[in-house]
Amino acid sequence: MDGRTGRTAGAVSAGTGAGEALRMVDVVKVYGGGKDVVALDGVSLALGTGTFTAVMGPSGSGKSTLLQCAAGLDRPTAGRVLVGGVELPGGGESELTRFRRSRIGFVFQHYNLVPYLTVRQNVLLPQSLAGRRGRRAGAEAAAVLERLGVANLAERRPAELSGGQQQRVAIARALATRPAVLFADEPTGALDTASSRQVLALLRESADAFGQTVVMVTHDPVAAAFADTVLFLADGRLVDELRSPDAAETARRMAALDGATATAFRKEAA
Ligand SMILES: Nc1ncnc2c1ncn2[C@@H]1O[C@H](COP(=O)(O)OP(=O)(O)OP(=O)(O)O)[C@@H](O)[C@H]1O
Ligand SMILES: [Mg+2]
Repeated sequence: MDGRTGRTAGAVSAGTGAGEALRMVDVVKVYGGGKDVVALDGVSLALGTGTFTAVMGPSGSGKSTLLQCAAGLDRPTAGRVLVGGVELPGGGESELTRFRRSRIGFVFQHYNLVPYLTVRQNVLLPQSLAGRRGRRAGAEAAAVLERLGVANLAERRPAELSGGQQQRVAIARALATRPAVLFADEPTGALDTASSRQVLALLRESADAFGQTVVMVTHDPVAAAFADTVLFLADGRLVDELRSPDAAETARRMAALDGATATAFRKEAA
């Protein structure tokens, strides 16, 4: 499915009344600086509330750019992004920051916890930045730490935790503000197999039990198989989509894309 042909990837649960969590319409991102790089070349998608979507594609295909544009961490060059039916605001950086704080959770490969704050303080941070303090925010933070199995670590600092524990805390922090969409860019990229499974199971449960919409970039077909749908990117375009993915079929589709990229690369080099 190609953005230019007007087809839209993704699964909006039609008729359930559950609504739409994310919509991107013909999103283009061009990075300037000498030779322009078209990182996103007309991406359209629509994701229903409570869905778990994996984004895969060769290195440089635009996965991180897609996430950053969808999450309001970066502005598209053209096109529209709507989160929970509300359009990404124009105007200054402060409006975009407010938008992110109220609607978006983001989890990075390397956790990005604040080293001098305890786990509890880290989880409370986005809420206090959004102006929500006091007992209610404290209770919500405690509840999410409990749910993610890290309540016993609340008074530790990030350096005193394993990678898997740090990532679970980072997910707790992202979920504590109840975002419309939780974005995760290779959240298991730095974890061992057992910790990866725990993190993926948490994301899966967030979608199933709490209706959390999750969008995750990954290189790992096993990780992608935790999602409802895999969207495949190549050269900044959505080129394939797999519902109810299993690891073997996901790996086959990825291999086909990697092969196509390698062929294009050889042609370019020749
Ligand atoms: N800030 C930037 N300035 C210029 N070009 C950029 C910038 N960020 C990304 N790009 C380019 O945009 C394209 C897409 O990059 P992106 O980081 O989205 O890829 P990716 O699919 O996430 O790759 P990876 O799997 O290696 O993380 C690449 O060609 C990259 O070099
Ligand atoms: Mg990336």
